[in-house]
Amino acid sequence: MLTLIYAHPYPLHSRVNRALRQAVEDLQGVRMRDLYALYPDFHIDAAAEQAALAESQIIVLQHPMRWYHTPALLSLWFEKVLAYGWAYGHDPAGQRVQALQGKRLLWTVTTGGAQAAYSRDGYNQHTVHEMGAPIRQTALYCGMEWLEPHIVYGTGQLDTVTLAEAARSYRGRLVELLEAAA
Ligand SMILES: Cc1cc2nc3c(=O)[nH]c(=O)nc-3n(C[C@H](O)[C@H](O)[C@H](O)COP(=O)(O)O)c2cc1C
Repeated sequence: MLTLIYAHPYPLHSRVNRALRQAVEDLQGVRMRDLYALYPDFHIDAAAEQAALAESQIIVLQHPMRWYHTPALLSLWFEKVLAYGWAYGHDPAGQRVQALQGKRLLWTVTTGGAQAAYSRDGYNQHTVHEMGAPIRQTALYCGMEWLEPHIVYGTGQLDTVTLAEAARSYRGRLVELLEAAA
């Protein structure tokens, strides 16, 4: 099972994340959790989120970049769902817990900035991989395997053909992960 955590604050305005999502949501073994649809009031059901993660070998976080990090609801999701006594720390009996240990995490992010802008010499001065350090470190702290991020750059410049190719490539990536987990 692959759980895809989808976080787009304005899904009706989305072009790129919508296309990526549509390319994978019919895959067998993919379960979509659209955070902004599930929790428009930001009251995240942590137990439901944890149950979905517990059943999955692969977890995908998909979102547009927002001021160099995640949309606000995904940030809150980390706080509420990756809780002490479940994702890390100890249970009431004093046993060490790490519910996500060994699961594979794929970070899928789309950026308005072109790839060249995400470099030492570009106007963003850092790579997207560097921007993702807190997410990577969170995954590692929870005992997860960090996969090479899936990045779609320069979303404003993607023509229809390139966008369709990006969507196909995303589907191929998730198929590979599902096959490896089977
Ligand atoms: C409030 C806001 C903040 C944004 N911050 C960034 C950013 O930090 N870096 C970047 O490359 N693009 C940024 N963008 C551009 C979005 O990432 C881009 O529009 C999105 O990836 C396109 O995907 P979509 O068609 O699914 O919305 C931002 C856009 C908005 C509206």
